[in-house]
Amino acid sequence: MLKQISLFNFRNYQDLCLNTDSDSIVLYGDNGQGKTNFLEAVYYLAFLRSFRISSIRSLKRITTNGFYVSGLISLKNCSWDRKIEVEYINNRRRLKIDNLPVRKSADFIRYIKPVIFSYEDINIITGSSKLRRRYIDIFISSIDYEYFSALREYTVALKSRNALLKNNDPEKSKMIAAFEPILASNAVKIIKRRYEYIEKLKEKTLKFLNEIKCETLQFDIKYLTKINYDKISEDEILDRLEMNRSKDIKNGFTGTGPHSEDLDFIYNKKSLRYYGSLGQCRTVSLCLKMSELNLVRKFDSTGNVLALIDDVTGELDLKTKNSFFRTISDADQLIFTLTDSGRSEEYFNKKMKLYVSEGEIKPY
Ligand SMILES: Nc1ncnc2c1ncn2[C@@H]1O[C@H](COP(=O)(O)OP(=O)(O)O)[C@@H](O)[C@H]1O
Ligand SMILES: [Mg+2]
Repeated sequence: MLKQISLFNFRNYQDLCLNTDSDSIVLYGDNGQGKTNFLEAVYYLAFLRSFRISSIRSLKRITTNGFYVSGLISLKNCSWDRKIEVEYINNRRRLKIDNLPVRKSADFIRYIKPVIFSYEDINIITGSSKLRRRYIDIFISSIDYEYFSALREYTVALKSRNALLKNNDPEKSKMIAAFEPILASNAVKIIKRRYEYIEKLKEKTLKFLNEIKCETLQFDIKYLTKINYDKISEDEILDRLEMNRSKDIKNGFTGTGPHSEDLDFIYNKKSLRYYGSLGQCRTVSLCLKMSELNLVRKFDSTGNVLALIDDVTGELDLKTKNSFFRTISDADQLIFTLTDSGRSEEYFNKKMKLYVSEGEIKPY
């Protein structure tokens, strides 16, 4: 459980120290007061990323040169609380656990597993392929350490290969080839796991959809990759990289691989992205996130699954809402944000209530 959080110069929070020692917290507030920013800070502390953007720089309060977030976390089977801290100043990040510096982010992100539900989840279905890759990468990384490290190694090697592809050195072909075995060995791990976890997500999402829709519908998540599951091997990927090398040199970037793959969400045999109604896309994205929570719960070893629910319950119909509330109760701790719409909801009655206004949080 996240028992306490402190923010300094994070978005519109100048200096906040908040007791969060409750398994269900509701943050009320008008628009633009800092509700989403608060969830973003919690998510960042847990996973060192933002769920909104990829640039960490915009998290610091405007006109300042950095931010600080820290939290006190209780762990199952452990009698003392951990203090985790992130300081981000002049574009440099420093991590600490119990006052001792931590170098590897993998060692830092194992204390809380956050799952965010946001109005923008629909973009996973309808937005760019980059968003879908980001989604699937964050999801698998959060439950599979080997995926996390394979992805990091792959990304570093890809950057180096792309940098060489861009410059005009006549000797570069040999150097480019030198990065290919690292790309291939990590691509194998990435693609294999993507197949496996996408299959799990698909099964669960279909289950939730059938529950909510009360009809048997067809749903599929197609993994758009050039490598069939039974052909995933380093040799296969190395061959492809070699075959495409001269084309890549001409284009100045690596054309194929996990960094350019995509997903397609199929609902009653049609691609949602192109043919889905807004309502269908919303329902599927919600069920997808519910499945994610379900799977994070299943693979979690921290005992600290934290669901962050950013004002998504207001417009759900009764059936969907019931299914949603039932599913999120699997999390160890829940933090909701609500504008006016949710105030009368009975479900929120007995929770710890807070009020957000202009970057300050007070008891409600
Ligand atoms: N880096 C930043 N520095 C200072 N203020 C920021 C920063 N980023 C966003 N804000 C402010 O935060 C407010 C929006 O907060 P947000 O949490 O998104 O609101 P909501 O309560 O509607 O979820 C806006 O007033 C915006 O100007
Ligand atoms: Mg918001």
